[in-house]
Amino acid sequence: MTKILMVCLGNICRSPLAEGILRDKAEKMNLNILVDSAGTSNYHVDEHPDHRTIKNAKGHNIDLSKLKARQFSENDFDNFDVIYVMDSSNFSDVISLARNKNEKQKVQLILEIIYPNAFISVPDPYFGGEDGFEDVFTILNNACEVIAQILRNKK
Ligand code: 4NP
Repeated sequence: MTKILMVCLGNICRSPLAEGILRDKAEKMNLNILVDSAGTSNYHVDEHPDHRTIKNAKGHNIDLSKLKARQFSENDFDNFDVIYVMDSSNFSDVISLARNKNEKQKVQLILEIIYPNAFISVPDPYFGGEDGFEDVFTILNNACEVIAQILRNKK
């Protein structure tokens, strides 16, 4: 089983959405994976995803209402095979907690899966309007589709 962790800053917008999208694809494709998400900050620990994220995902038949935010910790390096981060600051925050080269190699900007070596970040929709949430859905749906295809080919 491949264990995948999605990481953003607050764990209430981008990473829970990435978690929900990939889990949905895995269920439909019958992939044997475990998906979770976490935030680099403790700002929203124990909160459900942002209401705009829940609403947007619901419009795509994905239920995020039961998820709860938690903070990333170095134990996550022991428990996950791949750690997909949403932006470059998440990347440096997570890398700074890695204890060795093997742990550093688990960390990848999620959009590298579509645009290798371009270092593109998933925009943070938190301070913007509702359109931003649909844009983030499209971006993460594309990235998770590629991740799911790669995992299927590994089976
Ligand atoms: P996320 O979005 O990292 O995609 O969950 C944010 C959520 C909250 C904050 C920033 C980004 N905040 O500053 O509280």
